[in-house]
Amino acid sequence: MSEPSNNVTLTIDGKAVTVAKGTNVLEAAKSLGIDISAFCYHPGLSIAACCRQCLVSVEKNPKLQPSCQQTVAEGMVVHTTDKQSTLARKQQLEFTLVNHPIDCPICDKAGECTLQKLYFDHDNANSRVDTPKVHKDKVVDIGPHIVLDQERCILCTRCIRTCDEVAHSHQLDMANRGDHEVLTTAPGEQLDNPYSLNTVDVCPVGALTAKDFRFTMRAWELDATPSICNGCATGCNIEIHHRNERAWRLVPRLNAEVNKYWMCDEGRFTYHELHEQRLAGPTLDGLPATWERALKAAGDRLGAIKDTGAIAVVLSATASNEDNFALAKLALAWKASVYVGAKPPVPSRADDILRDADVNPNSAGVAAIAAALSITPKTTTELETNLGTGAIRALVVLGHDLPLAETARGRLKELDALIVIATHERGPAELASIALPMAAWAERAGTITNRQGKVQRMHGAFPGPGQAVPGWEAVARLANATGQKLSWTAAREVFKDMTAAVPAWKELAWTRDVRPFALRFAGSRG
Ligand code: SF4
Ligand code: SF4
Ligand code: FES
Repeated sequence: MSEPSNNVTLTIDGKAVTVAKGTNVLEAAKSLGIDISAFCYHPGLSIAACCRQCLVSVEKNPKLQPSCQQTVAEGMVVHTTDKQSTLARKQQLEFTLVNHPIDCPICDKAGECTLQKLYFDHDNANSRVDTPKVHKDKVVDIGPHIVLDQERCILCTRCIRTCDEVAHSHQLDMANRGDHEVLTTAPGEQLDNPYSLNTVDVCPVGALTAKDFRFTMRAWELDATPSICNGCATGCNIEIHHRNERAWRLVPRLNAEVNKYWMCDEGRFTYHELHEQRLAGPTLDGLPATWERALKAAGDRLGAIKDTGAIAVVLSATASNEDNFALAKLALAWKASVYVGAKPPVPSRADDILRDADVNPNSAGVAAIAAALSITPKTTTELETNLGTGAIRALVVLGHDLPLAETARGRLKELDALIVIATHERGPAELASIALPMAAWAERAGTITNRQGKVQRMHGAFPGPGQAVPGWEAVARLANATGQKLSWTAAREVFKDMTAAVPAWKELAWTRDVRPFALRFAGSRG
């Protein structure tokens, strides 16, 4: 007997399509390139079928069906452009607009609003309503990060389902009936959970806006570059929305295996740090210097140390795979001892949704690289001890996250050379005899490895400040200043050598650089 098929073949607008059993008609149509208008449907949420914007005709069914709720069946024949369903969707859109304020010129969702897009795509007619609109509350402060405009809300319930199903917190609800129905907070609640800003993404209109982003940039002024959140070991896939060489917001990007459609609020705010307290140029003994002077001094000071065992390097769980691979190779060439710097774990933030206690984005990458190069990194406690005994005379640190006890920190100032390759003027970079500026995660191409061992690609959205260069390039310049040859000219060359060296990464290929794309008329991110 033949196995029952898990696929179903149906016809939509005269075209046959085969999809998995259980798929809804809306998604089946999407796979044919047919875009059925919808508000309340979101592929990452349960189906409410409450907006009726996605009605289609199904042959042998006397009534129009919501295509988001209607699952496919063998031999089903669907029409999305027939007179009946086209009229129903147009009328539904007009109904949704009856009490909607004409806020587009001042609304933060303009340019990426589903309601605005559908109006232009399907209606584009003047309002036939000659009675005053029903007004509801505006600028309602419903939580620490979000503002609600009740009269813009089209009552789709996506935000309620996002709280219930993603954050597992019932914090939003509907109140009242008919044209007085409003979105509001659940009794005794605020919209305050670690995933609250996902409601802003899924809101198809400008009813929920992020305090952090509202009134800063219009959507069509922004470019988007795909990247990976560097906020913790989960490595949520994101888009950096940027303009004028700075980031204005981070939003999640679909990766079914890592973060699905979501990211945490804390991760979204990490872009602020990209533009604060940056190290923009090399320094030598606390004063600005050219790259040439700083590197010459580094070469001289390291060259003066005759006992190679007195040189130590610190890899970084916050830097990219390529940056760490470059420094690990240099440590081998120098025969230097190796340590790893990392932010301390934050157990209170861990949950079984996305957030990890390890707030370093690349702990797994550093471990894989060290193991592949037969390096056993020593702990920071051992670093503190060896600084105390004077066994270390020169330290080369990648990144600024090196939490040390106060005494050990004091010892850093007594070293013959403290060379720090860092993005920010923080931690050891403040004490460095030589500081070399490094581009941050959003400013250069590279990869990081998440807690699942997935090596994920980041793309440069905008250049780093001043004279900052990628970490691997700073390491290569430092190597050359000490007579070692590291001759990479692009991140993909470091990646190629690195994947050849790490057995688990042998099959990985460097993906093409992505140019930022304009968000203009991109439609709703929901
Ligand atoms: S606030 Fe937005 S997401 Fe929530 S119900 Fe209203 S329109 Fe839908
Ligand atoms: S869970 Fe971690 S990786 Fe994901 S958005 Fe939050 S901080 Fe970033
Ligand atoms: S999208 Fe199908 S009913 Fe709302």
